[in-house]
Amino acid sequence: MRESKKNKARIIPLGKIRDKRGNLSVIEDNKLLPFTIARTYWVYDVPGGESRGGHAYRKSEEFIIALSGSFDLYIHNGKEEQIIHLDRCNKGVYIPAGTWRRMQNFATNSIALVICSTPYSPRDYVRDFDLFIQLKESNAL
Ligand code: TYD
Repeated sequence: MRESKKNKARIIPLGKIRDKRGNLSVIEDNKLLPFTIARTYWVYDVPGGESRGGHAYRKSEEFIIALSGSFDLYIHNGKEEQIIHLDRCNKGVYIPAGTWRRMQNFATNSIALVICSTPYSPRDYVRDFDLFIQLKESNAL
């Protein structure tokens, strides 16, 4: 089955409002992102060699930006894996629900901003990769 646009991970460019005093980018609810924002968190002070977020969400969609520095975003849709290098604060990656994702290879002082479609819920996590693949193969995720 072909994935619909809503179900496809993709890079979304953000605008840049250029100013000699410094640039500005904005994300407004219900514009640009294919979901309504329920929660925002950020990951920082990541020690060299560490990775974050090796899991999938059952329901939550996300948008991830390298607000500062750079890191690699590893994503797996159950069939294919992809690594996207993020190093600009005026673009991000939309990640649909049911996607395995991990942030890795953080440069020193990087900040990963994560914007989500749902409030925090431990029950929304799938933390076992083999279970993730099983759920994808049986269309349960
Ligand atoms: P977790 O999502 O497991 O981080 P990572 O995916 O990078 O390994 O979250 C780490 C801890 O933070 C965990 O104890 C749950 C807590 N947490 C919240 O309380 N609220 C949140 O919105 C998030 C994302 C995590």
